[in-house]
Amino acid sequence: MPFIQLEKCTKCLKCVKDCPSSAITIETGEIADTCIHCGHCVAICPEMAVRPDFGEVFLLQPHSVTPKDFRNLCSGIRTCRSYLQKDVPDAVLLQLVDNMKHYPSASNERPLQVSIVRSKEKVKLLNDQSAEALIRLIGMVCSPWVSPFIRILAPSVNISKLKRYRNSFIEKQKNNDSQICHHAPAVLLFHGKTSKSGMAEADANIWATYTSIYANTIGLGTCFNGFIVKAMGKKSKLNPLFKVPANHQVYAALLVGYPKVKYRNEASRQSPIVALL
Ligand SMILES: Cc1cc2nc3c(=O)[nH]c(=O)nc-3n(C[C@H](O)[C@H](O)[C@H](O)COP(=O)(O)O)c2cc1C
Repeated sequence: MPFIQLEKCTKCLKCVKDCPSSAITIETGEIADTCIHCGHCVAICPEMAVRPDFGEVFLLQPHSVTPKDFRNLCSGIRTCRSYLQKDVPDAVLLQLVDNMKHYPSASNERPLQVSIVRSKEKVKLLNDQSAEALIRLIGMVCSPWVSPFIRILAPSVNISKLKRYRNSFIEKQKNNDSQICHHAPAVLLFHGKTSKSGMAEADANIWATYTSIYANTIGLGTCFNGFIVKAMGKKSKLNPLFKVPANHQVYAALLVGYPKVKYRNEASRQSPIVALL
């Protein structure tokens, strides 16, 4: 629990007003167990009178990212599918993980763990096992026994497109030894407990997105990898190979490495349709 040092507190009530779970009784300094440990009380206190339940409190540093900088950064970040054969040092990978403490999480539950696959053999294993799992999975969905049910129960699933995907996976396996992982030197797997009601999937994609942006600011390229996520479905047999606990599910996967290609131009794409209400 955070802790209020009443001798420093001036009763300005900033923490009380900003607490999303109305957990603070300032008169007694009590914090109720509805506290979600978000640290807003710590962040807002002008006297640094609220101590966090973990670690120290530091003054926020001003940043110099202008809206124009951020726009330019976003337009320059492209999916990287071609990597230099240069390892990403563990210190850099851990730097990416350390920053995850700043990323948002539904109800601040922070349910995610990260497996970093960063040996050539393990990345190859992940690539091959994912390709095989996808070929099996799509083969099952497209089989004459299952596909009629899929056509009725999930009419938006395009069976012929899936068949083309499967054939292309099988074809590529013959002459591309990294069709899923693109020879990336590291793959980050974001996983959490399998749950229908939780928000781990949303958290994972947000954390992977922030990580991708941060990685690009330090000269790395990234690729979100939906194929790995699909291959490592619920109760995946791949889990133990990549230190994913049996009751966890991989919700996002991010390839990371130093890019071999540089993009020169901003390619226009349509902004989403907007409704102004
Ligand atoms: C959720 C998600 C999953 C993706 N999965 C893959 C993937 O498995 N393999 C791949 O090569 N690219 C994957 N991508 C990259 C997209 O194809 C890419 O973002 C898109 O083509 C736009 O290109 P850009 O990222 O360079 O702007 C994925 C992107 C997202 C957001």
